Amino acid sequence: MSERLISGELSSPDAVFETSLRPSLFSDFTGQAKTRERLEISLQAAKQRSESLDHILLSGPPGLGKTTIAHIIAKTMGGELKCTSGPTLEKAGDLAGLLTNLEPGDILFIDEIHRLQRTIEEYLYPAMEDFKLDIIIDQGPNARSVRLNLPQFTLIGATTRSGLLTAPLLSRFPIKERLDYYTGEELQKIVYRAGGILNVQITPEGALEIARRSRGTPRIANNLLRRVRDYAQVKGDGIITAELADKALAMLEIDQDGLDEMDKRILETIINKFAGGPVGISSLAVAVGEERDTLEEVYEPYLIMNGYLNRTPQGRVVTPLSYKKIGVSSISSSRKTSIQGNLF
Ligand SMILES: Nc1ncnc2c1ncn2[C@@H]1O[C@H](COP(=O)(O)OP(=O)(O)OP(=O)(O)O)[C@@H](O)[C@H]1O
Ligand SMILES: [Mg+2]
Repeated sequence: MSERLISGELSSPDAVFETSLRPSLFSDFTGQAKTRERLEISLQAAKQRSESLDHILLSGPPGLGKTTIAHIIAKTMGGELKCTSGPTLEKAGDLAGLLTNLEPGDILFIDEIHRLQRTIEEYLYPAMEDFKLDIIIDQGPNARSVRLNLPQFTLIGATTRSGLLTAPLLSRFPIKERLDYYTGEELQKIVYRAGGILNVQITPEGALEIARRSRGTPRIANNLLRRVRDYAQVKGDGIITAELADKALAMLEIDQDGLDEMDKRILETIINKFAGGPVGISSLAVAVGEERDTLEEVYEPYLIMNGYLNRTPQGRVVTPLSYKKIGVSSISSSRKTSIQGNLF
């Protein structure tokens, strides 16, 4: 089974970098105050009763701290974190192997749990509810079901798409927490802390400039910090000030509001090719050359939250703010261009 266990970290430089910046305790974890408070209470209560913690579902866009929180919980509870992911579990036997190797108090982390196969998911139900596992041994007329007792463990599921989870699975998570985008001030703290760990000289204003343009996402903030650090070293004197961060981010084509090239391409495409919308997500995906899932999980939530895009039953529609961003003077003029474009 061990080859099915993935540690959650890859050995690429980026992964090593991420790990070193991953807070290992709630006291180092900035933001998500409500989620943190609720989880800390559940953790403390379970510890006091010497019981395993209830199963937890963490949802929210990529890079907001779901994996980080799973690591923090395991460390705080003193259990081992065993990581796997929905797509890696191919057969029911893969899951059975993982479950039967757990020790009491261990945490099983299933990333991308919305991508778990239905047949495998059904094995999880009795495991989650009663710590039992029904396995079928032998085949044909000799086939019989055997019920195994499992140790008391905690399942932590992570998903970027909680809407895709089935109702029976959802209902088996007593604790459900949705992570939200971080505020500029929270990200400023995260960037500042990361700067300290990486030995980068950065002013609070420099950290805020990076934070403001990081789409509310710690992973992006940390990655931008690294890019800006390179720029400061080569083009500046190594110190990240607001002015230097601004120049570096402009070079990376990340605008004042934190929108990157792809965000702008999406808005531009809807305005210029689809007359502002509504356009279906599949057509949009083809037009911008990006996977539909990536559009839905990564780009759309941030554009919607910031008022650039609306989801309607007919499809995606841009808002006046998008016209302003892309520099098209008015809705009617863009519609005219697009109609002319169609005629000629
Ligand atoms: N609250 C936080 N404080 C400081 N750093 C954070 C925080 N949340 C996340 N990070 C940083 O962001 C990186 C990405 O977080 P994490 O891997 O937990 O995201 P995720 O929600 O699991 O993303 P994905 O959906 O892509 O798996 C971490 O390596 C960590 O350095
Ligand atoms: Mg993760």
